[in-house]
Amino acid sequence: MSKRNKKETSNRAKQAQRMLKIYGQDVEKGTEQRISNARKSLEISDPLLVEAMGLRRDKLRWDASIANISVLAESRIPQSSFSQAARREARLSILLSDHGITSQDSHNAGQILTWDANAEARAFRQGGKMSDAVTAALEPTLETVSSKMFKEKSVSRICDVGSGAGVLVPLLKEYGVGAEQIVGVDISNEMTMVAGRAHPGATFVTADWMTYDGDGGLFDVVVFLMSLHDLAEPIAALTKAVDLLCDGGSIIISHPKGAEHVEMQNRRAPDLVPNLLPSFEDLEVFCGQGDSESERSLELECFEGDGAAGYLAVITCCRGGGEGDMGEVNQEQEEPTGLER
Ligand SMILES: C[S@@+](CC[C@H](N)C(=O)[O-])C[C@H]1O[C@@H](n2cnc3c(N)ncnc32)[C@H](O)[C@@H]1O
Repeated sequence: MSKRNKKETSNRAKQAQRMLKIYGQDVEKGTEQRISNARKSLEISDPLLVEAMGLRRDKLRWDASIANISVLAESRIPQSSFSQAARREARLSILLSDHGITSQDSHNAGQILTWDANAEARAFRQGGKMSDAVTAALEPTLETVSSKMFKEKSVSRICDVGSGAGVLVPLLKEYGVGAEQIVGVDISNEMTMVAGRAHPGATFVTADWMTYDGDGGLFDVVVFLMSLHDLAEPIAALTKAVDLLCDGGSIIISHPKGAEHVEMQNRRAPDLVPNLLPSFEDLEVFCGQGDSESERSLELECFEGDGAAGYLAVITCCRGGGEGDMGEVNQEQEEPTGLER
């Protein structure tokens, strides 16, 4: 075994020990325990927020359970369940209106509890070898990101929204992107901590994407890798990305497991995964609105997102109503040029 391989094996063994200490023998149970402990602490410091989180979770699960059911199936649900749902909704709207808790607050609090508890385990999993299927599904994303990064200048910046344990850093390194070019933003402090520890050359910021100011700079690429559907309002998150994008810059939305996988997650846990990945039509409407703050237009350059295969969408921001370095954009056209479906 080479010296390098020996070092990697010994590092991996140390990480495994660390995992055992944090989660115990059963990572799933250990994670649930960590979430439950964090919820109890939050209940002491902010009981109304925890109440709103619980009500929101139950409401979303109830809504999902009665969506699209037949009249016959609906008639079999006891009336008391409907009354309970109505009481829950009334209490939730009191918390929202009288106590200044927004539904985004309760969503974000759930995200923080969940991802803080998962951070070490995710970092450990991603430090190992990814499956061939995921690696293959990620290739078009990494190629697109790197081609955008080197399009005009060598010192371009990329923002990785919902950066998690920083998986993009080693992957992009293989495509020539330096760690120092990458800024990861994540709402979970545990995630940015493990990411910073594993990838010291990159910058990781703990912040809600919706309030992040770019630390005074703009980005050439803003990427949402497996994260857009976790944000409370995906379209608002894309608008925010446009605000932080240079002229000619691109937004890249990617999920190696595809839209159907996210649909399944949404059905299973609508409180944690409240949104689907945007459809072709959603993105067309979004791009049609352009950048309301400036003269820039948005082009949906690529969409490969229907079905079970990996999801990849690329939106490019062009200066001056459609003439950017991506070529002519004819807004009269029904479909943008170069669109792949
Ligand atoms: C499914 S994980 C994906 C992590 C990483 N991109 C990856 O591919 O491994 C989603 C991440 O989005 C983060 N997140 C959720 N809401 C966020 C928000 N409002 N602002 C920033 N990050 C957020 C979560 O903390 C979590 O780390």
